[in-house]
Amino acid sequence: MKTLVQNLLIQAVVIGLTCLPARAADELLEQIPSVFQRAGSQYSGMLKKLGTNSNLPRTTQPDGSVLTVKPEDWTSGFFPGNLWFLYEYTGSPEWKEKALAYTRKLEGIRHFKGHHDVGFMLGCSYGSALRLDPQEEYRQVLRDGAAALATRFVPKLGLIRSWDYKPYSCPVIIDNMMNLELLTWAAKNGGAPKLLEIATSHADHTHQQHFRPDGSAYHVVDYDPETGWIRAYHANQGADVRTPWARGQAWAIYGFTLMYRETQKPEYLARAKTVADFCMAHPKLPSDKVPYWDFGAEANDSTPRDASAAAVMASALVELSQQAEDGKKYLDFARSQLLSLSSPAYLAAPGSNGGFLLTHSTGHLPGKSEINVPLVYADYYFLEALLRYRAVATAKPRTELSNAR
Ligand code: GLY
Repeated sequence: MKTLVQNLLIQAVVIGLTCLPARAADELLEQIPSVFQRAGSQYSGMLKKLGTNSNLPRTTQPDGSVLTVKPEDWTSGFFPGNLWFLYEYTGSPEWKEKALAYTRKLEGIRHFKGHHDVGFMLGCSYGSALRLDPQEEYRQVLRDGAAALATRFVPKLGLIRSWDYKPYSCPVIIDNMMNLELLTWAAKNGGAPKLLEIATSHADHTHQQHFRPDGSAYHVVDYDPETGWIRAYHANQGADVRTPWARGQAWAIYGFTLMYRETQKPEYLARAKTVADFCMAHPKLPSDKVPYWDFGAEANDSTPRDASAAAVMASALVELSQQAEDGKKYLDFARSQLLSLSSPAYLAAPGSNGGFLLTHSTGHLPGKSEINVPLVYADYYFLEALLRYRAVATAKPRTELSNAR
């Protein structure tokens, strides 16, 4: 016979157990379906409006219409990349058909040597095609593109030259780290083994020469191609040569994380963590964790944000969280950024924003260009970050370009 006290204890335990949540809900995971639904409706609307326009969407113009660019523009691969993400998420053959049609517009980039951004352009278009629908034809385009990019390597510097125009002599920009995955992929997939050496040399020299003592990255380092000496540092898209341009920091975190994945060189992981820690602890980072366009800019409501920097950073941090021993802090931070970007403060209302998904990005403020606008690459890294986050949160890994066969 149970005593009254025993019965009360049993009841208390039963009530306690039934009140416990089965498993803490993940608010971000729950929001991913509605964000992809919005992405689908936005991009369907944009595709209808594009009609027979043969170029690729980049941003909106002051009158709200979509600005499109030729395949040679550094942003050309992101639109097909976004269509591939919609295919990856939905599995719908219609998205695949559209993604492939826009991917094929970049076919000629396989021989492009006019600047360093071939990794962005072909990686996001043909690289996504290869991840999701492997075909020999795509591999060949990517191998050709890697060989074209490698022609920009300057052996005396150990670096890939970014641009060919004045006032620079031999400029290397931090964004260039993003192009290295094309080279590491090609080296593993029938391209010349030296492509991996080029990628590693570029990352080594960037690691050694592209950072301030506080851990932040310069945007442009201009070299003398004869002596290898640094001629000057430039602010370019940043506010001042002494201040950290927000998207440049995001490129650095992303680029060094991917090069750590590719080489397991501990200094790359350390570099990615240093830049991430610098940004995450920055006193001027707003509470929603979407940075102002430059960490040195005045922190007030009239200073433009850069949602693209937050999206790139979040995607990089999700990957970094899987590489670093103290990864949880990076995943938590990325989740906060992605929740902010998924909120009405940044997610476009249906039918608005020219059909792009995210609002409030800044392309080139000192150039008075693309300030507080949608940018196709903000959408790209946002969708990638959500897919990466879902893979981590549900323990169902997805393939990155460099692991695509
Ligand atoms: N790669 C150029 C930019 O981030 O604006």
